[in-house]
Amino acid sequence: MKASIIVPTYNERENLKILVERIANSLKEREYEIIVVDDNSPDGTWKLAQDLAQFYPIRLIKREGKRGLASAVVDGFSYATGHCFVVMDADLQHPPELVPELIDAIEGGADLAIASRYVKGGGIRGWSHFRRFISMGAVWLARIFLTSVRDPMSGFFALKRDVIEGVDLRPRGYKILLEILVKGKYSRVVEIPYIFEPRKLGQSKLNKKQYVEYLKHLISLMRYKGELQRLLKFTIVGVPGVLVNEGLLFILTELLSIHYLLSALLSTECSILSNFTLNDLWTFKNRRDRGIKRFFKRAIKSNLGFGIGVLINLFILFALTENAKVHYLISNLLGIIAAFIWNFLISIRWIWK
Ligand code: GDD
Ligand code: MN
Repeated sequence: MKASIIVPTYNERENLKILVERIANSLKEREYEIIVVDDNSPDGTWKLAQDLAQFYPIRLIKREGKRGLASAVVDGFSYATGHCFVVMDADLQHPPELVPELIDAIEGGADLAIASRYVKGGGIRGWSHFRRFISMGAVWLARIFLTSVRDPMSGFFALKRDVIEGVDLRPRGYKILLEILVKGKYSRVVEIPYIFEPRKLGQSKLNKKQYVEYLKHLISLMRYKGELQRLLKFTIVGVPGVLVNEGLLFILTELLSIHYLLSALLSTECSILSNFTLNDLWTFKNRRDRGIKRFFKRAIKSNLGFGIGVLINLFILFALTENAKVHYLISNLLGIIAAFIWNFLISIRWIWK
């Protein structure tokens, strides 16, 4: 299977030659092409690519201005002639020696093969705690809402051509893999561990703007997938739940003189049942399996999952009311917010998985 290695470049003159040599060494016996997508780099990376094309199977796309990593990759796809596409950075942070393994995975039947930092054996060298933290947060958000892949932020991956054929990719920012994971047509995904090495030459083009870009991208993909709507529905369903909860808590405590903790327990159980029913009928309509047995299974799971939510709620209610002398209605509200986050996570990851 012919492989097209797509390499976006912007000011990577110092890295390109070594990259191409190492790719060529790794792919000796194979049929491949390297597609360099350069945005008219001021350092003349495109010129070097032209020179190298005399010795290596390089095809160059030279674009007129800096238009972003993701869009460079998508342009690379439309130019590629292989049946297996490999995407990688030019700066040697992605080890070229892993390329054959990625291609083998595709030839072995996988639709997507991702070089992953977050599976066993993978990792990152040389990142600050800050960047690690940001990366983990970004991965975490994507995994909650969009994909079960462990490293959906990887910039190093291979895919079958068919995965994106006819798919309307809207590249923005850096995260082209995430776009493919949400919109592509695939079933088998493998992740192959690798170590993301520190950059030795040249500079990273990642800046703070990309963080904001990423959040916008995430939200637009959530919308595309219907997950944003789901979150909204879950929140809307939560409102009557909160009203039932606070209202009953007030009535039981003030009018029937029941201890506020016991009142909270009763009122929260009532809101669990109403939340479960509404979410099952509406929020997770397209995710639930038919049948009465399954329905009860979900009901039980909900009581367990939301039950822990109750404990979180009660704990915060108790701790704040008793220790911080916060009014119990306010403590309860804060408890409900914490429980809401927990409940949403347990719902999408477990109850209506
Ligand atoms: N054509 C083009 N246009 N190329 C670009 C542009 C652009 O606007 N911006 C960046 N590139 C190229 C760089 O020249 C490099 O080859 C590659 O894209 C990655 O850019 P870096 O600036 O080195 O990114 P990074 O190291 O911070 O992050 C990379 O690795 C992460 C982990 O795999 C990216 O691939 C991230 O998407 C990825 O999460
Ligand atoms: Mn880099």
